[in-house]
Amino acid sequence: MEKQRAQWGSKIGFILAAAGSAVGLGNIWKFPGRAFEGGGGTFVIIYIIMVVLLGAPMMLTELSIGRASQTNIVGSFQKLGHKRSAWIGWVGVIGAFIITSYYSHVGGWVLRYVAGYATEAPKIYDNPMGYFTGMLGLNSDGSTSFPWVAILFAAVFLLINAIVIIRGVESGIEKFNKIGMPALFILLLILLVRAVTLDGSAEGVSYMLTPDWSKLTFDTFLAALGQAFYSLSIGMAIMITYGSYLSRKENLPKNTALICGMDTMVAIMAGFIIVPAVFATLGGGEVGKGGGFAFVSLAGVFQQMPGGTIFGVIFYLLLLFAALTSCMSLIEGIVAFLTEHFSWGRKNATIGVCIALFLLGCLYTCSQVAFPIKGVWFDFANGLSFPAFGDCMEYLTDRALIPICALGCSIFVGWIWKQENALAEIEQEGIRFRLAKVYTIIIKYVAPIAILTIIAMGLISGMTLS
Ligand code: PHE
Repeated sequence: MEKQRAQWGSKIGFILAAAGSAVGLGNIWKFPGRAFEGGGGTFVIIYIIMVVLLGAPMMLTELSIGRASQTNIVGSFQKLGHKRSAWIGWVGVIGAFIITSYYSHVGGWVLRYVAGYATEAPKIYDNPMGYFTGMLGLNSDGSTSFPWVAILFAAVFLLINAIVIIRGVESGIEKFNKIGMPALFILLLILLVRAVTLDGSAEGVSYMLTPDWSKLTFDTFLAALGQAFYSLSIGMAIMITYGSYLSRKENLPKNTALICGMDTMVAIMAGFIIVPAVFATLGGGEVGKGGGFAFVSLAGVFQQMPGGTIFGVIFYLLLLFAALTSCMSLIEGIVAFLTEHFSWGRKNATIGVCIALFLLGCLYTCSQVAFPIKGVWFDFANGLSFPAFGDCMEYLTDRALIPICALGCSIFVGWIWKQENALAEIEQEGIRFRLAKVYTIIIKYVAPIAILTIIAMGLISGMTLS
């Protein structure tokens, strides 16, 4: 009765797809700003430590849960543990759903900017803020209207995802990543050369290379850890889904190292593009993060750099590829769950999910500037508060759902499924995992404590912690 489960067509196809999931807006848009705030070199060092110490073991954990269970994210916890463990998967699916709803809309904005730089760059340079908020529904006279430009582009972005996903794991997702990821690396290299050869960029380069330990605080560790999980696509059970399409012959620790290495390299390269470019054109104080930065401040950078408009197109194309391959992995995680758990057809599941994502994402986009849609949030610093709906969605995923699902995965492997079984899964077909002991300690003790700290700090210090 059961259909043959999908599998990756090749090893390189899997690695590129997993790296495609990991490399996303988090690397190119969030990392540089965070690195800047965290003291440049200081943050880069702490970030690398967090990836090696916690990110990589968590990715290995998710991949082995997926490969051992050969099923979707809710099913895998039921199959390897007991029925009661399924909540970890549910947190993952719900988190993935909420993240994707706004991730896909931001992807749409990126697409808008590719088109914008290609066809009407002077308009962006004239009024970078007005162009951005205009896209989101703010008129020049201060009134607001429905943000149809942003929403239209989000629909196109989701349509591209849907077309690829309906084609399946091997002929859709794998194929797309096999073209998209090499293209992304080439665009990244072009931008890197451009950025570090700009007059005045040396100061930015040295900022990124020289640690400033006076900026090191407890928050730096938390920000680096949160960023590492987000960037490696951990805590959304995406790697469980991608791992479930892997054959037993694959060496999981080696693949994990490769994916983490690529993801970190791209983040650091993006840091070495954005920070020096901003130093050279606008001065150091301007490096920031969030929507305003990627869409507004960078306009000044492209306006001032020689050949800026073409580099603008290249930059947003890079961001677009990165966003597409990540968004695809998120949707695949949800679609795999619906097809296996509720026996939906792949096509119907994909279309249904994309429409639902689109609608929820509309609330995110509309709540930016067009309409004051509010959400509810609680933390000990502010008590009950009513921030913009879009902010609530981001807080909920970054502060709660991602860490809770990651916590669930580490506790599951350390204490329920048991690490002997995880290690047996990893060490198949004669593969030796030399770091098995260290891995066990990390997954059983270090990871749960570190993740609990992230959750607690998010609750205590409130909405400002980024
Ligand atoms: N890793 C992606 C990024 O860096 C985001 C993502 C998170 C994708 C969770 C999948 C799952 O942008």
